[in-house]
Amino acid sequence: MRPAIRAAVPADQPALVALDEVCFGPAAWSTVAWADEFERLSDDRVILVADEGEVVGYAVLLLPPVAEDVVEVLRIAVTPAERRTGIGGQLMTAALARCAGRTVLLEVAASNESAIGLYRGFGFEQISRRRGYYGAGEDAVIMRWRETV
Ligand SMILES: CC(C)(COP(=O)(O)OP(=O)(O)OC[C@H]1O[C@@H](n2cnc3c(N)ncnc32)[C@H](O)[C@@H]1OP(=O)(O)O)[C@@H](O)C(=O)NCCC(=O)NCCS
Repeated sequence: MRPAIRAAVPADQPALVALDEVCFGPAAWSTVAWADEFERLSDDRVILVADEGEVVGYAVLLLPPVAEDVVEVLRIAVTPAERRTGIGGQLMTAALARCAGRTVLLEVAASNESAIGLYRGFGFEQISRRRGYYGAGEDAVIMRWRETV
């Protein structure tokens, strides 16, 4: 079953906190940080969830209202048991559908082959690298997407 992609609602918050913990472990956002994300939903944040009766994936975007400002993909993750079945792609498709005419940036660990593979598939290109950004030997890669017409 392909999940439905929809905007998050406040009732999704506990599921997102739990799934973030599963997906990111010690690097997961705290309950307080998630509450802050939900506080800002009407502001400049968009949280998309992949819903198949339970939340199996999510993406968090910083989407400033000013069209000239860049959009940032802050987080995208899929529950481990359902990876490589297209859900990350579904979330990214839905995210980029909100980014017509805009520039989208994201930052990813250089060793995160699955995420970089996903991003490249959508046309993101590496524009810079921050050496040691995540600690010894773990570089960050900055990637950019622009709509091609
Ligand atoms: C990155 C992530 C969201 C991808 O989600 P997913 O649902 O597995 O992705 P999809 O099944 O839609 O895959 C889309 C494409 O991404 C690439 N990809 C996904 N997983 C990959 C892997 N393990 N190795 C290489 N490429 C991969 C492939 O190009 C894939 O297309 P294909 O299956 O036709 O070859 C998922 O691996 C994840 O949750 N990782 C942990 C969280 C994370 O690191 N998030 C990114 C930083 S915020």
